[in-house]
Amino acid sequence: MVSRALRALQLRAADLADVARGRRDPLTPPRRYLDFVGDSDFQATGEEFLEHFRTLAGLQATDRVLDVGCGIGRMARVLTRELRPPGSYDGFDISLEAIEWCRRHYVRMGVPFTFGHADLANSLYNPGGRAAPSEYQFPYLDRSFDLVIATSVFTHLLADAADHYLAQAARVLAPRGRLFATWLLVGGDSPASSHGAAFDFSAVAGDGVALVADPAVPEAAVAYPETWLRSRLAEYRLRVREPIRYGTWRGREGLSFQDIVVVER
Ligand SMILES: C[S@@+](CC[C@H](N)C(=O)[O-])C[C@H]1O[C@@H](n2cnc3c(N)ncnc32)[C@H](O)[C@@H]1O
Repeated sequence: MVSRALRALQLRAADLADVARGRRDPLTPPRRYLDFVGDSDFQATGEEFLEHFRTLAGLQATDRVLDVGCGIGRMARVLTRELRPPGSYDGFDISLEAIEWCRRHYVRMGVPFTFGHADLANSLYNPGGRAAPSEYQFPYLDRSFDLVIATSVFTHLLADAADHYLAQAARVLAPRGRLFATWLLVGGDSPASSHGAAFDFSAVAGDGVALVADPAVPEAAVAYPETWLRSRLAEYRLRVREPIRYGTWRGREGLSFQDIVVVER
C-alpha cells in the first residue's frame, strides 16, 4: 500500500518535471496511465508502428482507420500527423478510463478522431466487464474501413474472442482493406526457442486452443498456434501478406517484439 502510494507520487513528480521543462506532449498520457502499454516507450513504439503501417500495410493518408483495443492512444497519436480528409480514425477499448482520457485530448484534429467504449470482460484489463468479447458486434458498418489495426490486443484475447474479432474485422473491412495485427505465435516456421523466449506458454487455456503464460490471469499474455490462426483467416477469406514478421519475443532476431501479421480482404 505504502509503496504503491510512493510510486504514484514519483510518477506524478516526473510528470510535473516534464511540464516545468516544457516537455509535455498533449497526446502522451501521464505516466500513471502507462500500464496499458507495459514497459514499452510510448512515443518510440508509436513511431515504430507508424512505419510498419506504411511499409507493411500500405497506410494511406486518406485511409479510414479502425484501432481495435486502442488503449490510451499510442497508435492514435502518430496517426494524427498522418491522416488527412477524407481519412478518419475510430478507436474502441474496454477501459473506460483510457477512452475518457482520449476523448478529452483528441479534439480539433485534422480528421475526425472518435473513441468508443465497450464494457467487455477481460481478466487483466476489465475483470468486472459486463459482456463477453466473443459476442461483441463492432459498432461500425460493413466494409467501412480501409485499415484495421490491433496492436497487442489478440495477445490478450482467448480463442472464442480472438476468432470472433477476426470475423468482425473481416466484416468491417472494405474490399482490398487490410488488417494489421500483432500476435504471439507458436509453431509455424519460426518456433519460439525454449530458452530466451519472453514468455513460457506451457499452459493450455480452457478453450483447448490458446496458450497462456499465467493460468491465474489467462488474458495477461496469450499465444496461438500459427496453424490455428491461418485456418481462421482462411475461414474469413483474409489473405496473409507473406511473410509473417516473427518478433523478438521468441528470443531471436525480429522486426518488432511481437509477431506481425498483415492480411487483406
Ligand atoms: C497492451 S494494450 C495495447 C493498447 C494499444 N493497442 C496499443 O498498442 O497501445 C491492450 C489493450 O487491449 C484492450 N482490450 C483487451 N480486451 C479487449 C477487447 N475485448 N476489446 C477491445 N479492447 C480490448 C485493453 O483494454 C488494452 O487497452
